[in-house]
Amino acid sequence: MKILGVDIGGSGIKGAPVDVVTGQLLAERHRIDTPEGAEPEAVAKVVGKIARHFEWIGPIGCCFPAVIQHGVARTAANVSKAWIGTNAEMLFAQATGCPVRVLNDADAAGLAEVRFGAGKGVAGLILIVTIGTGLGTALFTDGHLVPNTELGHIEINGADAELSATDAARQREDMSWKQWGKRFNVYLQRMHALLWPDLIILGGGASKKLDKFSEYLTVPTKIVPAAALNDAGMIGAALAAETLSAPDSR
Ligand code: BGC
Repeated sequence: MKILGVDIGGSGIKGAPVDVVTGQLLAERHRIDTPEGAEPEAVAKVVGKIARHFEWIGPIGCCFPAVIQHGVARTAANVSKAWIGTNAEMLFAQATGCPVRVLNDADAAGLAEVRFGAGKGVAGLILIVTIGTGLGTALFTDGHLVPNTELGHIEINGADAELSATDAARQREDMSWKQWGKRFNVYLQRMHALLWPDLIILGGGASKKLDKFSEYLTVPTKIVPAAALNDAGMIGAALAAETLSAPDSR
């Protein structure tokens, strides 16, 4: 089955048809810059453009950097506050004319990794941490997602962990990989103390550079980079939309 996967991020919105059986992208992804301010209507227009680019008729899965409960955005750490209370599923369905499922971006990346990537076949507790503009988390127990964990916002030294442990902080403060790796290690130590995961998967931009900071990570847990890297959001979003009933789009 083919589902259009759309990954809405702070800088870009990208989409591609995904084969949800194999996890492969079926066409070159289409990317459009996120409109300034990332307001709901403007983002919906872009999602509509992406669907039209693929002449899409059928289910669409979108991932978004916020808590999404039953289609409604509940937080907005790095996007316009106008999203809070917005029914993103309804908004995108209107913009595309297709049935749409929306979920948190880290949860989507996790779904892709657990089904096809670094977490495939792993029993027990898996923690996925996506390191980008924000710090996203996804938690899986024996392959089942516990949705909307916002563990990137735990407090460390009296402040939101996201403010110091994410890749945006590394760039903003011009930190070396050693400096940042040590900070990120404090975050992972806390995660380990609270959750005792069997496996930690690191996703997002910084995960491609794991070799530059892995030596500073001291948690007694296996840590691996995400396998799907930049495509995990689109693939996981498509997986989340698998249950939507829709005309056969093959
Ligand atoms: C948001 C999360 C999101 C993460 C990664 C955080 O700021 O609160 O919902 O998953 O950024 O984009």
